[in-house]
Amino acid sequence: MKRTLLLISVLAAFAGFSIAQDDAAYSTAMKSISASNAPLRTAITAKDTSAAAAEAAKMASGFDTLIAYWKAKNADDAIKFATTAHDSAKTIADSKDADAQAAALTTLSGTCGGCHAAHRGGGRGAYTIK
Ligand code: HEC
Repeated sequence: MKRTLLLISVLAAFAGFSIAQDDAAYSTAMKSISASNAPLRTAITAKDTSAAAAEAAKMASGFDTLIAYWKAKNADDAIKFATTAHDSAKTIADSKDADAQAAALTTLSGTCGGCHAAHRGGGRGAYTIK
């Protein structure tokens, strides 16, 4: 019995730790996505397809982290936003066509506000995940 209790408290401690870890990973990924956002837009406007591809590849890997996070939470709408964002970023990363990249950027941009409205809490400087 004592052993079971000990095991439960150890598991609980680990669960708490992994949630904190996941939130930190999420925040790091979100900041990196946001850092690529302006350079990506500039590159698309300039029709610099290789610079756009490089920024979009970084974004796609950030969205991988978001997809995993929301899958663990079973939040279907957020999984959908993150997957659409990931796939559009991947399209830009894999394309050498300026028009195709610009079209994918429009789809990508549509995901930011939708997911923030549903899942971003708090305010500027202190955003939270909800
Ligand atoms: C699947 C949901 C989702 C998508 C898609 C998404 N975000 Fe976020 N974003 C969040 C959540 C949740 C937070 C709050 C947690 C945090 O700040 O890490 C956030 C926070 C942010 C922040 C504040 C970061 C900080 O803490 O300083 C910025 C900037 C941001 N997102 C930019 C973007 C941009 C740009 C896009 C689209 C290219 C985007 N996000 C797409 C969910 C999303």
